[in-house]
Amino acid sequence: MTFTHRHLLGIEPLHPAEITAILDLADDYVALNRSGDKHSDALKGLTQINMFFENSTRTQASFELAGKRLGADVMNMAMQSSSVKKGETLVDTALTLNAMHPDLLVVRHPSSGAVDLLAQKVNCAVLNAGDGKHEHPTQALLDALTIRRKKGRLHRLSVAICGDIAHSRVARSNLILLGKMENRVRLIGPPTLMPAGVAEFGCEVFDDMREGLEGADVVMMLRLQKERMDGGFIPSEREYYHRYGLDAEKLAYAKPDAIVMHPGPMNRGVEIDGTIADDINRSVIQEQVEMGVAVRMAAMDLLARNLKTARAA
Ligand code: NCD
Repeated sequence: MTFTHRHLLGIEPLHPAEITAILDLADDYVALNRSGDKHSDALKGLTQINMFFENSTRTQASFELAGKRLGADVMNMAMQSSSVKKGETLVDTALTLNAMHPDLLVVRHPSSGAVDLLAQKVNCAVLNAGDGKHEHPTQALLDALTIRRKKGRLHRLSVAICGDIAHSRVARSNLILLGKMENRVRLIGPPTLMPAGVAEFGCEVFDDMREGLEGADVVMMLRLQKERMDGGFIPSEREYYHRYGLDAEKLAYAKPDAIVMHPGPMNRGVEIDGTIADDINRSVIQEQVEMGVAVRMAAMDLLARNLKTARAA
């Protein structure tokens, strides 16, 4: 067994071989998802609860579909109408759910570290579906699978991550993963949207798109996280688009076969030009969504195997 963790809380604790193990299994699930019978029994008899304390479209749908295709009983908690609104703490909510014997808990929360805290209180496998500005491991894994399939490898690539780095758990998880797999990562964005201590990440930092994109194999765009900003980080969206929005002219600085990625949801005309996003020769945004289901199936399958082993012991 190459993947021995109880939870998937972030990319940080993973060994490169574990990342490869998840991606290899996800490749099998891509094939299953493209076949006529999209069904396996990997999670048969297990209960999966999705708790999303923050809005989500693709991540929640993807986890739900992944669980159902693997045969789990899947429940989506509507957190907006839950007792959280009556003042129940995160830990109390988790303990209540824990008493119902779930096997997999998928959690998204606006506070960094909230999912780790919750994982310490329950006796099932916990998957982090995004915690504040901290980590979004399945996003980085689905991005990695997309890159590996498109570029034929996941090492020695030049990857430009552009935009609102400071508020992005997607950027953080990707940065960690791509670094572990020995790629060259460049961060591009206005200095106001670079995290403090960015120099320690060991990657190059640019505030000019054309310089930063020069020779890139992969161009990863990020959404401006307006909900996590409490002041004037950018002069205006128009000005931002002019300097940092990905359009054909700026993309021409990357390699001719560079792929364009975006985790979604996209703000067309803010961080990316709609024509680039829709260009099937450059944009892999739809593939990212497809890979998302497969990666989540792989992650839940591996965690369920470890859960069964631990319970049998
Ligand atoms: C991302 C998220 O929620 O962190 N979306 C996603 O999971 N696909 C990125 C974002 O919200 O900008």
